[in-house]
Parts: sequence; structure tokens; C-alpha cells
Amino acid sequence: MTNATRILCPKLRNRIMSAREAAALIPAGANVGMSGFTGAGYPKAVPQALAEHIRTQQAQGRRHRISIWTGASTAPELDGALAEADGIELRLPYQSDPTCRQKINEGRMDYIDIHLSHVAQHAWSGFFGKLDIAVIEVAGIAEDGRLIPSSSIGNNKTWIDQADRVILEVNYGQSAGLEGMHDVYYGTALPPRRRPIQILRPEDRIGEKYLFCPPEKVIAVVETNAPDRNSRFSEPDETSRRIAGHLLDFFEHEVAQRRLPPNLLPLQSGVGNIANAVMIGLNDGPFENLTAYTEVLQDGMLALLRSGKLSMASATAFSLSPEANQELADHIDFYRSRIILRPQEISNHPEVIRRLGVIAMNGMIEADIYGNVNSTHVMGSRIMNGIGGSGDFARNGYLSVFMTPSTAKGGAISTIVPMVSHVDHTEHDVQIIVTEQGLADLRGLSPRQRARTLIERCAHPDYRDRLLDYFERACASGRGMHTPHLLSEALSWHQRFEESGQM
Ligand code: COA
Repeated sequence: MTNATRILCPKLRNRIMSAREAAALIPAGANVGMSGFTGAGYPKAVPQALAEHIRTQQAQGRRHRISIWTGASTAPELDGALAEADGIELRLPYQSDPTCRQKINEGRMDYIDIHLSHVAQHAWSGFFGKLDIAVIEVAGIAEDGRLIPSSSIGNNKTWIDQADRVILEVNYGQSAGLEGMHDVYYGTALPPRRRPIQILRPEDRIGEKYLFCPPEKVIAVVETNAPDRNSRFSEPDETSRRIAGHLLDFFEHEVAQRRLPPNLLPLQSGVGNIANAVMIGLNDGPFENLTAYTEVLQDGMLALLRSGKLSMASATAFSLSPEANQELADHIDFYRSRIILRPQEISNHPEVIRRLGVIAMNGMIEADIYGNVNSTHVMGSRIMNGIGGSGDFARNGYLSVFMTPSTAKGGAISTIVPMVSHVDHTEHDVQIIVTEQGLADLRGLSPRQRARTLIERCAHPDYRDRLLDYFERACASGRGMHTPHLLSEALSWHQRFEESGQM
């Protein structure tokens, strides 16, 4: 990794230093924009060195905390290390780290959970304050100073443009063959200067292969050689397989009804075991020439590309297991011609998602009988991860699918409840709900029809009769027949779980 073989720009070679020296350039109280989207493309050395620096400062009685803005979640070397050092004042726009989660839920860390497509425009509008420093992982630096992006793009363009000072981590562990895979669009603007985003097909390229940063902004260049960190996917269990099976049957039905073309529409898929089971199901299924316009590209999508079922995928980041990462590196030329990584304001752009007619498939925590969905908060108050891109895709997709097992915590919780304890996706944005019990197609149904369909198709048998009983008593209460509820009981299932450990 030494000899700066990936740092070809002489000016930037002069800025090479250790992670410790670079971390010391980040002052207490700074707003720091870091690269990283899921466990991909995040800086690996500077955050850990900064965590050490913070511990030292705090041991000497000096409070040293920073605000961290990223693309989305990162990994233990960034979120974990800094949260454990108690170094994060505020975090945005998404996290999935256990220590961060705990601190947020204990009120010891502020967190702003926002639609991922909104982050860049909020930053440009100044809602988060001034961005002081950007810390960005890249795969290399060209002779003229252009930056070869890494395994995620996220908000990197925005952070580099907005920050006064930039620290670059050049990661030799990233495949040099990533060069050319990216499409960084430099044409976004705030209203009223906006122009249409000219992506008419998922494979359209509208931007640059590189990130641009004036060399005078770069205050440090740090060399690393460390892999991205994404957890392994376990083999899909019976529940995930059943959920995937219901969804694939539904797609076949929609094709037969001519409401979907034989190669479906561009796919968006969240991460996790259910999403992976759907991808595996698609690999075994009848659909050919699929495309993806999604946020993260996970193992299952890579396998679909390899088998030829998926002809191309557009995303903002990889989210691959170590084995899939190896597969990517081993066949990088094959994948580079089939994958485009874009900034998240484009991968999640409502205009493009609506135009392409994306099929949005995301996980959820719970849904209520009318189809409102909670993706983020356990028992109404405790954040799990965040809304991420699910709202961008669910609101604007052609089809909006939410999936979950019908129970959680060994059956103690029904994921279909009378009223959700927090709303991320309203009934107006939710079309299809799938559990291992079945699939509810809510399109074209009135609220009361939705309730009956959802209870019958998706609720676990242990909870079905009680949900039906709630619904029928709500209808009989005479309080209003459009969306009948019993206000004193609507959240009693959650209350009961908090008190007794069982809904
Ligand atoms: N009440 C309480 N806890 C619940 C629950 C419920 N109704 N439903 C699930 N959980 C718990 C599970 O028990 C599990 O807890 P554990 O980690 O302690 O075992 C945890 O939530 C995750 O559930 P799991 O069934 O493993 O689902 P998942 O990994 O598919 O994640 C979400 C589900 C909703 C948390 C996840 O999809 C998410 O964060 N979504 C929002 C962001 C998003 O959609 N991103 C993709 C957009 S591109």
C-alpha cells in the first residue's frame, strides 16, 4: 500500500500523513460529513484515530464531541468507535449501530432521521448548519486530482462541495477496477433553478466518473488498506422463503393481468434476510431481463447479475458480504459494465423513481389494519435504524411493498396491530403488505375493505380473531365509519406488551 501508488496527484501526495495526525485536525464541535453508506465506502482509519483522540481529550476533562453527517449507516470503525468514545453530539441521516441506537434512545445523542433523498438539499439550504470538514474514502486519486470514488457514493459530492476542508482516505483494499463504475451528477440545484433529471432508463448515465475537489481544500490524505464491513447473510429461513414466495406469485399474477411487463419494472430492495430471499426467489423464477433502480446492491442482486437474470443495476452503494465482495473484485470488469453507482440524491430521486415506475420492496416493524406502516420505532418511542430510503421509494414507486414476519419476539408481538405506534408511511403510500401468512393487495380498497383484507391475509392466526374483534367493535361503536377506531384501545396492544411482555 505504500509508495502512494494510488495517489498520482503530486500536490496531494504532499498532504499524506497518519490517521492520528489527520484526526487531530478535526476540532471539537465540528460538523463533519463522512462518506459511507451501509458498511461500504466509509473512512476506516480517521474515525478510529479520532475516537482515540476524543478519549484522550475527555480523560483530561475536555469535552470533545462532533456532529456526523453521512450517506446512511456505516460500520463499527466509524459509528461504533465514535459512539463508544461518547464523541457524537448529533448524527444524521441514518444509523444502524447498536451503541448509537442505545445512546439515541437514552437521550445522550441527538439524531435526525430523514428521507435520504432530502439530505443534500437540506444541507445546501443550511438546515443543519455549516459543514466544516469532509472525511471521504476514495479508491484512488488521479494525476490531475480527480477522485476515484469508492464502494459507495452517498452524499460525498455534497460533502466535498460544502466543506471548507477535506480529508481523504485512499483505501488500497478497494478494487482499483471500481474506476468507471460511478456516475456523479453535478447538475442538481435548489428551486427555482432545477432542471429535469434526464434518467429515462436505469442504465442512463448523466454524470461524471469522478468526484472533483479543489486540491487546496484537501488538508490531509491518509492511506488505508481495510475491507468494507458488512455482515454475512444467513440462508433464508422458512418465514423469509414464504414471504418471498407470496411476492413472486403476486408478480406472476400481475404479469398475467398485464399490469406488469414480463421483465417486471426496475426493482428497489432494502437489505436483510427477507430482501435476500426475494432476490434468491427471482433467481429461480421465470423473469428475465430484470433491471434495478435501487439504493443498495446486496448479495442477492449480485447473484442475479451473475446469472444474467438481472441485466443491470443502478444504486448508490454496495452492501455485500465478504464472500460477495470477493466475487465482485474477482469479476470487476463484468460487473462494471452492469452496475452504476450514483449520488443518493439521484439513486433515490422521487422524479426518477416515479418516471421509471420502480417496484419498491422494504421491510417494516409493524403495520396497522388500515395499512399505515411503522419502519422505525419500537413501541412508538425507541428508534431502530431510521426511515432511510424507504419513504423515497414507497411514496414514488409504481408498486409499494412492505414485508415482515407476522410476529416478532417469538410470537409475543403481532406486527399487524390496531393502530401503529409511529407512522413512517401512511396508508396512502402503502399498496402491498406481505407476511409469511399471505399477501394483502390494498390497491383500490376503501379503509374498511383494507382492514378485512389485511387481517385475513397477513395477521398471524394467534392474533387474527382479536384484530377482527377490535375492528368489528370499532365499526359498531358509532364513532365514525370511514376509518373506525376505538381510541381507548387503539394502542392498548403496545401498552400490554410493555407491561406484560406479550401483546
Ligand atoms: N416490534 C418490536 N420489535 C420488532 C418488531 C415489532 N413489531 N418487528 C421487528 N422487531 C425487531 C426484531 O425482533 C429484531 O430485533 P432484534 O434485532 O433484537 O432481533 C429487529 O426488530 C429487526 O427485525 P428483523 O425481523 O430482523 O427485520 P429486518 O432486519 O428486516 O429489519 C426493519 C426490519 C424495519 C428494522 C428494517 O427494514 C429497517 O430499518 N427499515 C427502515 C429503513 C429501510 O427500509 N431501508 C431500506 C430502504 S432502501
